[in-house]
Amino acid sequence: MEKISFPAISVSRAATGAFVLLLTVSLIAVIFLVVYPNDLRLQSIVTGGCEPRPLRAPRFVGAVASPSPPSPDLRILLGVLTVPDAYERRSLVRRAYLLQQPSLIGKALVDVRFVLCNLTKEEQRVLVAMEIMLYGDIMILNCTENVNDGKTYNYFSSLPRTLGGADDRRPYDYVIKTDDDTYYRLGNLAETLRTLPREDLYLGLRVPCHRTEEGFMSGMGYLLSWDLVEWISTSELARRKMMGPEDIMVGVWMNEAGRGRNRIDTNPRMYDYPEGPDNCFRHAFIPDTIAVHKLKDNMKWAKTLQYFNVTHNLETSDLSPY
Ligand SMILES: *[C@@H]1O[C@H](CO)[C@@H](O)[C@H](O)[C@H]1NC(C)=O
Ligand SMILES: *[C@@H]1O[C@H](CO)[C@@H](O)[C@H](O)[C@H]1NC(C)=O
Ligand SMILES: *[C@@H]1O[C@H](CO)[C@@H](O)[C@H](O)[C@H]1NC(C)=O
Repeated sequence: MEKISFPAISVSRAATGAFVLLLTVSLIAVIFLVVYPNDLRLQSIVTGGCEPRPLRAPRFVGAVASPSPPSPDLRILLGVLTVPDAYERRSLVRRAYLLQQPSLIGKALVDVRFVLCNLTKEEQRVLVAMEIMLYGDIMILNCTENVNDGKTYNYFSSLPRTLGGADDRRPYDYVIKTDDDTYYRLGNLAETLRTLPREDLYLGLRVPCHRTEEGFMSGMGYLLSWDLVEWISTSELARRKMMGPEDIMVGVWMNEAGRGRNRIDTNPRMYDYPEGPDNCFRHAFIPDTIAVHKLKDNMKWAKTLQYFNVTHNLETSDLSPY
């Protein structure tokens, strides 16, 4: 098995402004497990780590030294599972994360990556390539798009092979699987994680609510410590049970293998967008939110970002024509 190391890129720390951030994000950090058609030799970047790639490799590969902070105290991979055609949502989610203040995250490094299966349409090979060149935040797995037929297994199990390995340092402390209708508050997340174990940790909104054991963490977004990700990549149990409702299956892997014993239920700090009557996983916005889910349209994103004062610093008058 080839070992590939990707320079980590901070979307959260390295810069003081979104523009500088863009530059840093445009470095590299794409996982390619697919073989592309010959007209777009993007696949050549899987083979070489940081060395400059030969002809026809895209220019962003290995172009600039990584400006990430020297030693983050916490490293998180936040994988947003989405589909290639969701261009508009992806750019909104990307902006929402780019705008989270590095100062709120402290020394934590959070790499936000959009996780896709195989590109299948001609235009995707160009349009997704543009995003890769500008932002370097897309991972393409070797799978056919699906929600419950193993994409989540594919995501976790491919990470050690593609990211890990170089020396014995783990590439991330924690890995998150989430979707493009969930918004994490990265500062609150990092602050919480600083107090928690780095091993055998399985964190999220527990389903059914308020159970003290077993169950699983809601698919809105859950987090595993790196040791669990490594375990998944070699586990026969996980491989056999990759199909099925993805969040439930991850719970099954953990429960049957007796793993994820550090189980943290983030209720009520992770919840569904407040519409309809409150219940145990849906309620009004709260300041110490870790994640809000079911952001299915632009208005819900807008209301959520508004609550968290994301655009607060821009005077409303700046939005007027005169
Ligand atoms: C991708 O998946 C297909 C089908 O599962 C498999 O035949 C192929 O060998 C895989 N390719 C790589 C590069 O792993
Ligand atoms: C993904 O695409 C590559 C290249 O077209 C192909 O070899 C591979 O089998 C595909 N994988 C799946 C799971 O469809
Ligand atoms: C947003 O800003 C208002 C006014 O400054 C403040 O009262 C409120 O607590 C802030 N909300 C959050 C979630 O920080």
